[in-house]
Order: sequence, then C-alpha cells, then structure tokens
Amino acid sequence: MSRRVGALLGFAAAAVLLSACGEGSALSPKGPNARDIAGLWWLMFWLGLAVYVFVVALLLVVLRRRGKAEAPVEATPGEGRALIWGAGVGMTTVVIIVLVLVSYSVGGRIYDRRGTGGLQVEVIGYKFWWEVRYVDRPGAITANEIHIPTGRPVDLILTSRDVIHSFWVPELGGKLDLVPGVRHALRIQADRSGEFRGQCAEYCGVQHANMLLLVVAQPPDEFDSWLDRQAQPRQPPTSPLTQRGEEVFVRTPCGACHRVRGTTATADVGPDLTHFATRRTLGAGVRPNTRGHLGGWISDPQAIKPGNLMPPTKLAPDELLALLAYMESLT
Ligand code: CUA
Repeated sequence: MSRRVGALLGFAAAAVLLSACGEGSALSPKGPNARDIAGLWWLMFWLGLAVYVFVVALLLVVLRRRGKAEAPVEATPGEGRALIWGAGVGMTTVVIIVLVLVSYSVGGRIYDRRGTGGLQVEVIGYKFWWEVRYVDRPGAITANEIHIPTGRPVDLILTSRDVIHSFWVPELGGKLDLVPGVRHALRIQADRSGEFRGQCAEYCGVQHANMLLLVVAQPPDEFDSWLDRQAQPRQPPTSPLTQRGEEVFVRTPCGACHRVRGTTATADVGPDLTHFATRRTLGAGVRPNTRGHLGGWISDPQAIKPGNLMPPTKLAPDELLALLAYMESLT
C-alpha cells in the first residue's frame, strides 16, 4: 500500500469521525445520560485504536524482519510464548475487563437516574408517530414534539399502542424500547435550550425511518407558559372562515380520528390536534408545518408517507381552504 493511499484512508477516517461529532449526534451530548454514553464511546474508540495500532506495529516489525533476512525467520519459542500470553491473552483480558466495568457503571448510573421527582411525561408509540402526555397536567396532550424545561430532569414513561418502537434522541441519552402493555422509564435532561432531533430506533413497519420526533428544550418560564397553553381547549373560531373550517373538521373524517379539545371531535386514533399550529412539523417530522404541505397532507397523506394509517380526504376546494385556515388558527 503506498503512502498516498494510507494518507487518503487516514483523511477519510478523520472526516467520518468529525462528521460523527456534529450536531444531532450521540457524540455531541447535551445532557447527563448522553455525556456518560459519549464518554463510554470515546473510551471504546481510543482502546480500539490502541489495539489496532499495536497489532499493525507488530505486523510491520515481522514484515521488516522477513524482508531483511535471507532465510525464513522463525520466532524463538520464548518470544512466541511471551507474545501469545502477554499481548494475545493478557492485553485482551485487560481491555475486555476495563470495558465491561466501565459500561456496567455507565449503565448503572443511567438506570439510577430514572425515578420520581422529575417532570413526568408519557410517550406513547403509534405506527408511525408519538403521542406525548404531560402526566401532571391532564389535557396537555401533543404529538411528535416534546417540550421540556432546561436544567430539570424529565422522566419519560414509554409505552406503545401497537408494535415495539424505540425512543432515541442521541444528544440527550440512550435508546429505550416502547413495548405494548409495558411502561419503561427513561430520564432525560437538557443543559441548555435548543431543538434536539430524535428517531424511532426499532424497525416497526414501512414508515419506521420517518417516525421522527423533536425535543424542544426551553427556559423554565417559557416552558411553563407553553404547557399552560397546551392544557387549554382550543380557542373558539373568530372568523366565518375558521368557523366553517371547524364545521368541516368535525363533519368530515378528520373528526372521526382526531381530537380537538373544546369541540365534539374527541377521537384518539390519530394525533391530538388541539394546538396543531404550534407544532413545527407534520406527519411526525416528514414535512414542515406550512399551509402548502398541510394541504398536500390532508388531500393525500399516502403520497407523502406511504403506509401511514391516515386515508386521503376528498374535500371541495372551498372546504379545504376553510379547513386549512382553521388548522392554522389552532395555536
Ligand atoms: Cu416506530 Cu420504528
């Protein structure tokens, strides 16, 4: 292998490593659990690198010796035994023991952090979206966007209504499965405000890769007013257009699957839409929440996210416009 190829490989490895440390990555931790996990990852990385460098160095020494010698070179029996027991068995055992102890202690710390005293948030997995319920504030139900106050522990209670999903927000902590009929606890905490992307991490069906979520960490007072708002029923429509939109919502299939608190639409098949307009995305992260995308989503959600459970809704153009105006008024 020429030096140039070696340099190229080294450069590529460094580039991959740098990009892996960027925003959104588990190597860019923003909370206690994520920091512990990233620390463990780096320990594994440096140990693995040390072992690799050691093995390659040994190989080079042998090759050089062979290159110089005129006759085949055999290691003396003593040399071979020292290498096998010292490097082969001894070093491997030490590396494995160190990794087991450290990962056991990291796992223990993460496990111990679950508990009471934090903000309780129930996260329920559906194909292919997330329901979010604030346990201490009945009525505060949202979807695909978990708001949390900065600097305060948040105890997520994870469960599922259909198949097994897995909650993973790399910058805030590790993965944990959402299993039907079981409640798992996971504590997350964000040191600073920001938006942290998450992803379902257990294959759950055709739209698994598009089962996205967003954690929005806000200063505590901002979070409190957001939560107060989310716990309220919808503001009644204030214009003839939004009034008409609400009628359309309640009368058409929208109201048969979704809930808008304060109206007669109380179904819970799809996400609660009471404060839909406050959300950043629709379809669990597949599109930004804009009027154009929403119109496309209502008309034919299967074109945007094939295999999701929402059927197309055929509306007259004026009905669709009224419905869009109404959805945008749900702040
Ligand atoms: Cu839900 Cu994968």
